[in-house]
Amino acid sequence: MEKRILIDLNDKANWLYESTSPPTPAGHIVEENRVILMPEGEHRLFAFTDAVMHYAPDMGAFEHEHHHGFETFFVDSGSMEFYSLGQYCELKKGDIIHIQPYITHGMVFHEDTRYRGIFQDWSVIDNFAETYELKRRCPEDAAKMAEKGVNMGEMDMFILERANCEKVEPEQISAVRNPSRPLKQFKFDGVTLKMMVGRWETNGVREIWRAEMEKGFHAEWLDFPTNPELFYVTEGNVKFKVYDEEFTAYPDCLVKIPKLAPHSIVAESNAAMYDLAGLTCWYDFLHDYDALHTNSPERAKDAEVIKALKAKTGCFIKSFGK
Ligand SMILES: [Fe+2]
Repeated sequence: MEKRILIDLNDKANWLYESTSPPTPAGHIVEENRVILMPEGEHRLFAFTDAVMHYAPDMGAFEHEHHHGFETFFVDSGSMEFYSLGQYCELKKGDIIHIQPYITHGMVFHEDTRYRGIFQDWSVIDNFAETYELKRRCPEDAAKMAEKGVNMGEMDMFILERANCEKVEPEQISAVRNPSRPLKQFKFDGVTLKMMVGRWETNGVREIWRAEMEKGFHAEWLDFPTNPELFYVTEGNVKFKVYDEEFTAYPDCLVKIPKLAPHSIVAESNAAMYDLAGLTCWYDFLHDYDALHTNSPERAKDAEVIKALKAKTGCFIKSFGK
């Protein structure tokens, strides 16, 4: 399968740009960052980075905030302290952080920790290709540029004074999410759908859901879907058919489906994956779909009612089930 549709995050061939953070005063590198996808469209969706963070004994916690953009991080290994709004907690594999503008945040890594981020309306990444290229081709000029503090217009970062933070449980920090406590959950035949980020938390642009599928669950999208899709598989194997080609996505894979591409999925084992594009108003669709089946079964059987609901919520699913 063409590599920009099935994207194995562990395959170096899929890393567009690699960079490291400047060393700390004691010479420790905290971050090794890989840009996997650059932003697209009006809200700079799809930007995706994969990072390995390291322990640096001389790097304390500091909180900062951004005034624009939304970041959603998936902790994939290791452990960290996450600071937000004067509190902090311990995070580990499986935890998710959703940071909105003006939500103060900071991280301290205890050990090598892998975490992945998907961004929206985040301009910091806009000049990444050009700055990377300058550094690669003319490192002295790039160093000169950094020395002069050339403003590319991307530094939307406001650092707060260090404060004494209170340690709390992860569920007490509003930015922290975990699949064990979704914002909302719907169960259907062969699938449990969990809302991890609500549309009200992304300025109305999208929502992020996790699908926990039983082996044999399948879904097929309508012909000519006018939304692109981005899926992130974290557990199990999912067979995709995109255009006329079949392939299996496995943990640590993104699947990026262009708009208009015919596509369908079958869970080859019990599996979990995130819908990261989230342009469909899933909450509204699932709320009404569930309510119709529970309270108005006659209307739920009416193809015109379901067609109107799909049109209203931007849902391009043709059929799903086990
Ligand atoms: Fe930040």
